[in-house]
Amino acid sequence: MSHAVVLGGTGLIGRAAAHRMLAAGWDVTTVGRDRSRMPDDVAAAGGRFIAADRTEPHQLAAALGAGADLLIDCLCFTAGHARSLLPLLDDVGSTVMISSKAVYVDAAGNHVNSAAAPDFDGPVRESQPTMAPREDIDYRSRDGYGANKVAAELVLLDSGHAVTVLRPSKVHGDGSTKPDEWVFVKRALDRRKVLVLARGGRGVDHPSAAANIAALIEIAANNPGQWVLNSADPDAPTALEISRTVAGYLGHQWAEVLLDQRAPAELGLHPWDRLPGIRLDMSAARQLRYQPASDYATTVTAELDWLVSIADRGPSHTAQLPPGFDHEYFAPMLNYTAEDNYLAER
Ligand SMILES: NC(=O)c1ccc[n+]([C@@H]2O[C@H](COP(=O)([O-])OP(=O)(O)OC[C@H]3O[C@@H](n4cnc5c(N)ncnc54)[C@H](OP(=O)(O)O)[C@@H]3O)[C@@H](O)[C@H]2O)c1
Repeated sequence: MSHAVVLGGTGLIGRAAAHRMLAAGWDVTTVGRDRSRMPDDVAAAGGRFIAADRTEPHQLAAALGAGADLLIDCLCFTAGHARSLLPLLDDVGSTVMISSKAVYVDAAGNHVNSAAAPDFDGPVRESQPTMAPREDIDYRSRDGYGANKVAAELVLLDSGHAVTVLRPSKVHGDGSTKPDEWVFVKRALDRRKVLVLARGGRGVDHPSAAANIAALIEIAANNPGQWVLNSADPDAPTALEISRTVAGYLGHQWAEVLLDQRAPAELGLHPWDRLPGIRLDMSAARQLRYQPASDYATTVTAELDWLVSIADRGPSHTAQLPPGFDHEYFAPMLNYTAEDNYLAER
């Protein structure tokens, strides 16, 4: 039986990849630091867990053991992380490194984490210029994330090993630490009567279902080589379309108030507010006979069901995410008081 090792296998992309490879008949080892985060369904499907810290070379080597046919690295953020894999890759059939669309720059050098919004002038192909590789800046900073990813990609690709670099966009799925659809799920659970959307909800930030990334990982596993591939859903809905998908799935109706540029800037904020929209071109993956698991509306239900199952109604009788999520990230997008005041004064 072929063997896959998933670094960060307890996380959003890792668990979907583990699922996919188990379903395809692979033996799968997931690696994380905390056994309690091993998803029950991955364990039930036969996935094994090894506790190891990806950043500790001896623990990394122990997790790989005698090697693997496939190594999926969901925790490769820097050139240093990439270099720590190199001594192990002689015993690995092929490697999939999860990078990000954050590597791309537009003609003016702007990227998705820039102060100025990038304008890619159409769907982004893998040949789009990237940020310059950097190792001298923290990968957890706005200018450091994409630049360190580029440096990590280059270390792996220059090694000559069979390495596939996947560049996902905005990932959704169960187990997300930042489940963007929460901004609409909470409103539906709270039975909000009105949805206020900035810039008419026209923003687009291409979604990437973890299940679709996993489908592309399986393609890479079956086609060892050197590939750099975008990884996004077959469709790129607007924020307005996403809001309707969520409300429809949860059986809720609201009146839509689509704001224009005259509205106060803090109103109707949402995670897909990118104009010009960001779309990834998926033709390179399709040339490898990649078939997505499904479209956005179908795949997002995994995250929606999960969010409903973990939402806490609490004493306030409004839905809350449990502790541990990034509540500060969501707060400006869930400012009911500001919305209600605006609607009352209209
Ligand atoms: N999420 C997105 O929207 C997105 C978009 C584009 C690209 N990406 C890329 O996709 C990759 C995976 O992202 P993700 O969202 O799936 O991550 P995630 O949900 O945060 O999962 C990461 C997993 O790795 C484990 N982990 C963290 N540090 C570890 C360490 N030092 N050693 C061993 N295990 C560790 C975590 O569990 P423990 O803390 O319990 O160990 C967690 O389960 C990342 O490289 C990211 O840059 C993500």
